Amino acid sequence: MAKRLHPRSPIAQRTAGITLDHAAPLYDWLAPLMTLGSEHRLHRRVVARLALDRPADVLDIGCGTGALTRQVYDALPANAPRRVCGVDAAEAMIAIAQKKAGHRPGLEFAAALAEDLPYSDASFDRALSTFFFHHLNYDLKVKALAEIWRVLRPGGQAAILDVDIPYTRFGALCAWSGYFLFRQPEIAENIHGRLRDALQNSPWHDRWSIPSRHSGYLSLFSLVKPQENTP
Ligand SMILES: C[S@@+](CC[C@H](N)C(=O)[O-])C[C@H]1O[C@@H](n2cnc3c(N)ncnc32)[C@H](O)[C@@H]1O
Repeated sequence: MAKRLHPRSPIAQRTAGITLDHAAPLYDWLAPLMTLGSEHRLHRRVVARLALDRPADVLDIGCGTGALTRQVYDALPANAPRRVCGVDAAEAMIAIAQKKAGHRPGLEFAAALAEDLPYSDASFDRALSTFFFHHLNYDLKVKALAEIWRVLRPGGQAAILDVDIPYTRFGALCAWSGYFLFRQPEIAENIHGRLRDALQNSPWHDRWSIPSRHSGYLSLFSLVKPQENTP
């Protein structure tokens, strides 16, 4: 598969996920094209879903160059300490994210794997990932979802925006074009509903919903971890 020919940084080599060291320098130009210009609107939906009106520790998984991570940081109340972490397996992505972070105390980026997050249990109030789960095979999807459960505090919430079962013809065209362009079986998995299956086979099995759908093939998944005393 062509993806294996791309150079991968040492941490990226430890995952079977589709990592993007090679695309990092162009990523901020390519991402708006891939979403047909709807990237900012979609990011706003994710930020709104996270309800960041109170101080919260937030984790962005598969953060790429950190555009949404910075937006999440800026959406948090400015009069309280903020901790927002972005992780990505591609060290080239993280290098760019760190460069673009500017002066934002508490905004951190780390090269790390979603399926083996370098954080202790119950470290975050919120987690998010956008356009990331279609880079993981089914087993990694389940592992990454279990990791999100582990690092979230009781009562914590996560928002995941990703390719899902298309619900319009145009959406099906977009989703399948992505699959044929990148020859990425993980995209076909999402189109066939395997991200939903992964959620069902993870600790989130009865704790997730789809509050909104977008562009004919994307779903915004909402995951809510119960408070400790909830059965
Ligand atoms: C399409 S980009 C999404 C970036 C960003 N979230 C956005 O919305 O633009 C997917 C990212 O997932 C990263 N990735 C792939 N497998 C990973 C893994 N196992 N752990 C962490 N990141 C991974 C890739 O390196 C890539 O930067």
